[in-house]
Amino acid sequence: MLLVTGANGKIGSRIIPILIQKGFKIRVLGRDPKLERYREFGADIMFGDATWPRVMAEAMQGCDQVFYIPPRFSYQETKMAQIAIDAAADAGVRQFVLMSVIHPHMDTMLHHTMKLNAEKHLIYKGLSHKLNYTIIQPVHFHHNLVVDRIIEEGGFYHYNSPDIPMAYVNCEDIGEVVSKILSENCHNCATYQLCGPDYVVPSEVAEIFKKVSGRDVVPKQVKDEDLEELWPRFVPDDPYAKEALFHMQYTYSRFGFAGNKNVMEWLLGRASTDLETYFQRELQRLGYPVEG
Ligand SMILES: NC(=O)c1ccc[n+]([C@@H]2O[C@H](COP(=O)([O-])OP(=O)(O)OC[C@H]3O[C@@H](n4cnc5c(N)ncnc54)[C@H](OP(=O)(O)O)[C@@H]3O)[C@@H](O)[C@H]2O)c1
Repeated sequence: MLLVTGANGKIGSRIIPILIQKGFKIRVLGRDPKLERYREFGADIMFGDATWPRVMAEAMQGCDQVFYIPPRFSYQETKMAQIAIDAAADAGVRQFVLMSVIHPHMDTMLHHTMKLNAEKHLIYKGLSHKLNYTIIQPVHFHHNLVVDRIIEEGGFYHYNSPDIPMAYVNCEDIGEVVSKILSENCHNCATYQLCGPDYVVPSEVAEIFKKVSGRDVVPKQVKDEDLEELWPRFVPDDPYAKEALFHMQYTYSRFGFAGNKNVMEWLLGRASTDLETYFQRELQRLGYPVEG
């Protein structure tokens, strides 16, 4: 049995169907009732708060593999990862795959430091407890560019300055890589940076979108002063989440976010999905015409 955390989230909900399709028997952990959606696929459903060691100890029972997707912008992120890793080691879990982020040592971002500390804990625990571990470090996901919202609003928000490029990766490709890591016995002690082929400034994103949709869309840079107004749901009464968002905006606006596509392609054994293909697929899925 494979335990997957963060199952209700944006990333979990895209990757879990791929793992189910690949034949993994899965236990999903979450708090929101929408977790029930996995029941029809035969998944084992477990409601629980992952900040509690007893919940994670129970979640590990009967599992030999874990795919750990962390929470987003949580001040408890490192602590939760440590609890899950300790619970896995105590329960004799065979393999732990941690989803981190590319360049976790970019410590101008609070959530990167959280992930770096989670990685360190996994390495020490993996080595001392013979827990087979793999760390995956994705760059910015394609699905942060929400196609129906881009069409509705005639544009998209971006944190990077107009002349600073960002790299992207496809979530379904990540699902394929995770499935490979979980199916093969040769990924122990590995850390994989996962990045797609595009490294583009916002105007290039708009050009790619126009090429496949025929629509002009306007890139809108998020400035410090816009953050609270644009994302009130992120930062209502949570000083950590608010601070993490400001740190991310600060970093992306000055440095962007980059990676190298090689590791992803070596793992996939093919070219990874580019932004143009992602937009095409999303337009088709949503019933919009695709150009070209
Ligand atoms: N977006 C990107 O480009 C990118 C790139 C690299 C890495 N990441 C990282 O990927 C991770 C997941 O991102 P996401 O967009 O999928 O986040 P998300 O949509 O907020 O999902 C995170 C999930 O974590 C669960 N969760 C939070 N606290 C919990 C708790 N105490 N107990 C049990 N479950 C809890 C939530 O489940 P419930 O809804 O059931 O409460 C939530 O659905 C984040 O750490 C993010 O930093 C993102």
